[in-house]
Amino acid sequence: MPAVLGSQLCHWFPLLLLTALRITAFNLDVTNTLTKDGEKGSLFGFSVALHKQLSSEPMSWLLVGAPQASALPSQHANRTGALYGCPLTTKPKDCMRVGIDHGVDVSRESKENQWLGVTVKSQGPGGKIVTCAHLYETRQRVTQLSETRDVIGRCFVLSDNLKINDDLDGEEWKFCEGRALGHERFGFCQQGVSAGFTNDNHYIMFGAPGTYNWKGELRVELFNQSALALGTYDDGPYEVAGEKSQKPEMIPVPHHSYFGMRSWPDAEEKGKGEKHRVEPYTALYTNSAFGGLLGIKE
Ligand SMILES: *[C@@H]1O[C@H](CO)[C@@H](O)[C@H](O)[C@H]1NC(C)=O
Ligand SMILES: *[C@@H]1O[C@H](CO)[C@@H](O)[C@H](O)[C@H]1NC(C)=O
Repeated sequence: MPAVLGSQLCHWFPLLLLTALRITAFNLDVTNTLTKDGEKGSLFGFSVALHKQLSSEPMSWLLVGAPQASALPSQHANRTGALYGCPLTTKPKDCMRVGIDHGVDVSRESKENQWLGVTVKSQGPGGKIVTCAHLYETRQRVTQLSETRDVIGRCFVLSDNLKINDDLDGEEWKFCEGRALGHERFGFCQQGVSAGFTNDNHYIMFGAPGTYNWKGELRVELFNQSALALGTYDDGPYEVAGEKSQKPEMIPVPHHSYFGMRSWPDAEEKGKGEKHRVEPYTALYTNSAFGGLLGIKE
């Protein structure tokens, strides 16, 4: 074997040398590209996900986040960001704005520059969709001297057909609301910089890198979709610092680490319990059979 490898290397060596001297880039496929246009300056394409709708009619989507998209008139803001659904066609201009996040209550929130569409993930064919606005702000005592503004962030869950259909759907996925505020606690959670579903689809995860003075936090919540799941899974939610205890010392990273900035299920580790990578410094393990948070490894 080594001899064969050696002779192969001899063959390849001149080519390798050539490659080292002249590096060029090329498109993998120039004939069958699919281009979609969005509003100029909207960061259209900041996040993308493929999604296959099964009901009521089969449909394939390219979901595109545009976190600097212009606001809807009802949002009383300039730029709020948006999520677009683009059919998988060759037409560049057939994307439609997904109908979420209408209206605003200016006495308790602001959607200006909230970055809706910063993340978008699909659970797979026929599954749910999650998208977030990590700079969504809640406010208290608006226009008074003691006004407070808290950048907690929030996420939206949508059904298969990009609509709000059942109890799991909607805009109420904001775990930092109603908790202790200030940057040392939950006042700058920025929930949704990362978000996603576990491989077994029983849980939804949210990264909130601004929690606890930017140590960051990851929350994993049960995501029941069938009566069967309701009976079988009955645990969580989990947070690294403890959902109830809220002890930031349990998060083994220094302040300003942005734990939860990126997170995704790691398919290779399926079987021994699912492993989730959480950048920048840590990996988080959950046991998919029991939903238990097993530990954190540097
Ligand atoms: C929208 O932009 C204008 C002009 O920059 C600014 O005066 C106004 O405060 C902005 N609106 C919001 C809701 O921030
Ligand atoms: C999932 O089911 C459990 C057990 O019935 C329940 O406690 C929990 O609130 C449900 N979670 C969601 C997100 O519906």
